[in-house]
Formats: sequence, C-alpha cells, structure tokens
Amino acid sequence: MTGNAHGRDGLAGPVVSFPEGFKWGVATASYQNEGAVAEGGRSPSIWDTFSHTLGAISDGATGDTACDHYHRYQEDAALLGKLGVGYYRFSLSWPRLQPAGRGPLNPKGADFYSRLLDALLEHGVQPWVTIYHWDLPQVIEDDGGWPVRATAQRFADYATAVYERFRDRVTYWTTLNEPWCSAFLGYASGEHAPGRQDRPAAVRAAHHLLLGHGLAVEAIRAQGGARPDLGITLNLFPVSPASGSPADEDAARRVDGLANRLFLDPVLKGRYPSDVTLDLAPVTGWDHVRDGDERQITQPLEFLGINYYQRHVCAAGEARLPSAWVGSEHVRFVGRGLPRTKMGWEIEPSGLYDVASRVARDYPGVPLYITENGAAFDDVVSPDGSVHDQYRISYIDGHVRALHRAITDGIDLRGYFLWTLMDNFEWAFGFDRRFGLVHVDHATQRRTLKDSARWFAELAGSNRLPWPSSPPDRSR
Ligand code: FCB
Repeated sequence: MTGNAHGRDGLAGPVVSFPEGFKWGVATASYQNEGAVAEGGRSPSIWDTFSHTLGAISDGATGDTACDHYHRYQEDAALLGKLGVGYYRFSLSWPRLQPAGRGPLNPKGADFYSRLLDALLEHGVQPWVTIYHWDLPQVIEDDGGWPVRATAQRFADYATAVYERFRDRVTYWTTLNEPWCSAFLGYASGEHAPGRQDRPAAVRAAHHLLLGHGLAVEAIRAQGGARPDLGITLNLFPVSPASGSPADEDAARRVDGLANRLFLDPVLKGRYPSDVTLDLAPVTGWDHVRDGDERQITQPLEFLGINYYQRHVCAAGEARLPSAWVGSEHVRFVGRGLPRTKMGWEIEPSGLYDVASRVARDYPGVPLYITENGAAFDDVVSPDGSVHDQYRISYIDGHVRALHRAITDGIDLRGYFLWTLMDNFEWAFGFDRRFGLVHVDHATQRRTLKDSARWFAELAGSNRLPWPSSPPDRSR
C-alpha cells in the first residue's frame, strides 16, 4: 500500500494509498441539516423542544431552518457528486417519518427521503442510512422517552418500517448513532435534549437504546431477501489515567467502562461488564434489565461504526453534579497541552489508531468503519471568496495517516466518514461550531467549498493521500 513515487509536485516521497474498495464518505444528521421542522407533516422532536428552551443552546440558535437541506437536497446531492466522496452517511428524522411515534410511515416524509435517495444515486453517491441520530419524536418523550422499555419496541417498529420502505436503494444501515450521548447527555447531565437530569433514568435509557438496537436488527433480518449491512455507531474513546496512582487508574477504568464497554460489551459480547454494573449499583437496581435482554442486544453485525474525536485522560477529583459520568461523578478530565479544536477537544490523531486497535483486539471479528471524525475551527471566508482551512486539512491528514497505519497493521477498517459535509446546527453549540468541508452562510444559505473540501475530494477520488498535503487546486 505504500511505495515510492513522485508526488504531484515532483517531489519524491511515500505514497500512502488505501486498499481497493476502501470507502470514503461524509456524515450528517437530520436535525442538524434539514430544517423545515413544521413541513410535510413532521411533528416536533425533543431537539425542537430543547432548542427552543431559553439557555439550552449557547448561541440561542435552533434547527428550525438549519441548512435548509429539506428544500436544497438536490443542490446538496449535486455537491456530494462533485466532491466524489462515494458514500453519504445521513440520518432519517423519526418525527418526519412517524409523526405520531408509531404506525405507518407518513407519505410526505417518506417521499422526501425517497427523492433524496434518488438524487444521491443519480450523482453516483451511495447512501448510508443512520436510522436514529438523536431526534426522538417529542410524543415518545411525553410517554417517558428512552428510560421506558416500550420505546425500544417503538424504535424497532420504526426501524423495520423504514427498512421496508427504502431497502430497494439502501444497503448500509446504522441503527443508532452514539447511544452514550442520547442516554447520558440527554438524561443525566441534561446538556442535550431532552435535557433531563435523572441519573437512574439515564442508565435505563442506555439499556433501552441498546435493546432497541437488538430488536431492530433482528426484525430487519426477519424481513428476508437481500442481506443488508447492519451495524451500530458508537462514540469510543481511548482512555488513559493521568498518573499511575490507584485513584487515577480507577477513574480511567470507570470512564472506559461507562463510555466504551457499557456499549461494546452487550452489543458484541452479550453481557454488561460486571465492574460497570457494580459501579452503577448505587444508582440503579438493574431491575429494568430482564432475562434474555443481553442476548437480544447481541446480534450478528456486518460492521461496527466508530466515531473518534478525542482521548479521555482521567484523574480522581471531587464529585460534581450534574454530570454525564453517572456513578463516577468524581472523575476529572485532564488536558495535556495539545492543540485543540474549537470544541476544546485535544487533537491526537494517534488516538484513532489506539481506539481501532483496542476494538480489534478486545472485540475481534467485526469489520470496522470510522463513521465520524472531524474538527470545528473558526473558519472565515477570505476576501478572495475562499475558506483557507489548512488546519482542517492537517487534522484530516493526520487522522487518515493513523487510519492507514491501523490498516497496515492488519486491522479490518473499511471506510472513513468525515464529519461533516457542511457547517450545520452543532447541537448545544448552535451555529457556533463549524465542522463542514463546505462553509454555510447561515443567513443566506450560501454554500462555499473550503480548501479542505477540494483536498478531501482528491483523497477520496484517488484513494491515496495527497502528498505532501497539497495546496488546493484553485482551477476547479
Ligand atoms: C458527534 C455527533 C455529531 C456531531 C459531532 C461533532 O458526537 O454524532 O452529530 O455533533 O459529534
């Protein structure tokens, strides 16, 4: 995969190329992009309610219009085609498809996604569908949300209905995106919708999300016919102790337990990790887990999606509430002085290697994809009309090199999805965090390709790293 060749600029150097068929894509999510929240029969989601709550979103923004992708999907599909990324990971809006949170699909909602799928395929872009990326119908939250068991079955019913409707054009299906965030940011720290701060409810939510995943995978498989590629996306972190002290080592074990193993173990090994169940015993009696649930959660999967953004370096400190680290509220996260993105996340490309190799070692046998990785920076449109985001190019370059090293070491990594196509509604930060390859002027909806978009297009099109990190070709 590597060899000596002449770079584009006539410089000799190693060519970092990827296995044939390696998938390059970009990832997005419905609430972050679509807008049109009251159109086509869509009902409110928990994110509509939350974003309209005073103080919930740091810049006061909402997803009411977002990137107006609902109306501009054709332009956006054309943009994807122009970037030549091959794969587009996007999510379906549950309240658009099932406004009542149950029952047959809303024809207008289904029609929107049907048109989007056609447009993508016309532009040579393969769809990769995330069935749930955080926008729970508010009606389901009103019935108790993820902390109640019935939501797992409602999710499986919804998942089966959308699979039936779109299976003719979609091969790749992700049940859930980052259930850790849905459960612990949504129900424990309250930083995300629905904004509840109820620790036992968060633990129950995590279980019902996982149960919903297991029920959905089983129900989809039972449809028969061509075999889809089914998987789940988890946000995983390499975790290290800040020092060799037993207290810091224990803090790291706890964070690894809550963030990684609480999800990986039931999904891939069929049981909850016993140390984490003990850590959580003061919070929950675990009576919400019924016999057979763990078996139900572990289903054969065609892939595991990993979202990698940062490492957690952990130390023991004073308990602080509210916290997403249920039962381990005393853990502290320590910085190491590395450069950070605008999210405050330390930039550490080798963490991608570490997280992928850890999963491959401890949970062998499942093909892996990086389903998200990316960075927010303060991008500005220059007087020349371009966005010169060399820092984003460096960020991606570093992470993709780490990915390449993992593949070279024999890890079964099959694709990389950059977060994200265009600057969008970044949850609790509103429009104040720009992650896109494409700059969006949120007042006019004007889309401008950043330099990183051209660079990434070259990577995806050639299946090898532009070397050296090449200056953007302004002729395009
Ligand atoms: C992930 C989310 C995604 C986006 C990125 C920055 O946790 O899945 O929607 O917000 O972070």
